[in-house]
Amino acid sequence: MRVRDAELIVTDDEESAAKRVAELLAEAARTGSEIALTGGSTPARAYELAAELEQDWSGAGVWWGDERCVPPDDDRSNFGLAQRTLFDRLDAQPGRVHRIRGEDDPGLAAVSYDQELRGTTLDLLLLGLGPDGHVASLFPNSPGLTETERLAIPAEPKLEPFVERVTLTPPALRGARSIVFLVTGAQKAEAVAGALAGPPDPAVPGSLIRSDNGETLAILDQMAASRLRD
Ligand code: 6PG
Repeated sequence: MRVRDAELIVTDDEESAAKRVAELLAEAARTGSEIALTGGSTPARAYELAAELEQDWSGAGVWWGDERCVPPDDDRSNFGLAQRTLFDRLDAQPGRVHRIRGEDDPGLAAVSYDQELRGTTLDLLLLGLGPDGHVASLFPNSPGLTETERLAIPAEPKLEPFVERVTLTPPALRGARSIVFLVTGAQKAEAVAGALAGPPDPAVPGSLIRSDNGETLAILDQMAASRLRD
C-alpha cells in the first residue's frame, strides 16, 4: 500500500492499532518528551494502554493539538478525555500539563496557547482524522489552513460536537519531530486515502500535514486502510 511522505503500519484490528500508539506514548513519556495528544473517541483505548505501560509520566510535557471550547470537566473536553483515560490511572502525573483553556474566550485561549507553545518543539504529535479529512480542528477548506504565523487559532466546527474550538495551525503541527496519525474503522477509509495517499489538498486537511523536518507515521487498522491502493 502506498502513502505519500509517511511510513505506514497496518494492524489487524483497532486494539492492535491502539497498542502500537500506546507503546509510542509510553516510550515518549519515559524519555521526558513533549507530547501532544489528540481528542475524539479513537485515542481513548491507546491512552488507557499507555497508562498501563508507563505509570510515571513525571518527566513528560503534555500538550493538545486542539480543544473544544468547554470546561475541562465537560464530557466533550479533549483534556477531560486524557484525564479520565490516562492521567487518572498514573502513579506520577505529567510534570508539565499545557492545557488549552476551553472555558475561556476562544480568541484569548488561542493567543495564550500560541505564547505557551512558542519556543517548544513537540517531540510526538498524535493526530486523529475525521471522516471529512479534518485534523485537529482544521476543517476542509477552512481559512486556518493557510495560516503561516500563528501557532494556535480559534476555529468553527463543521462536525459534532458543535462547540467552538481552538486548534494548532499547520505550521505548529508540521513543526513536530514525529507526527503519528491513528485512524481506525471503515468509515474513515476514504478520508485516509485522501489524507495519506492523495496530493496536498485543502479539501482534505490531513493531506497538508506532514512533519517538516522529522517523520510522519500512520497507524491504521485494516478497515481504515482498505481504500489505499497497492
Ligand atoms: C477533536 C479532534 C479531532 C479528532 C477527529 C477524529 O477534538 O474532535 O481532535 O480532530 O481527532 O475528529 O475523531 P474520532 O476519533 O472521534 O473519530
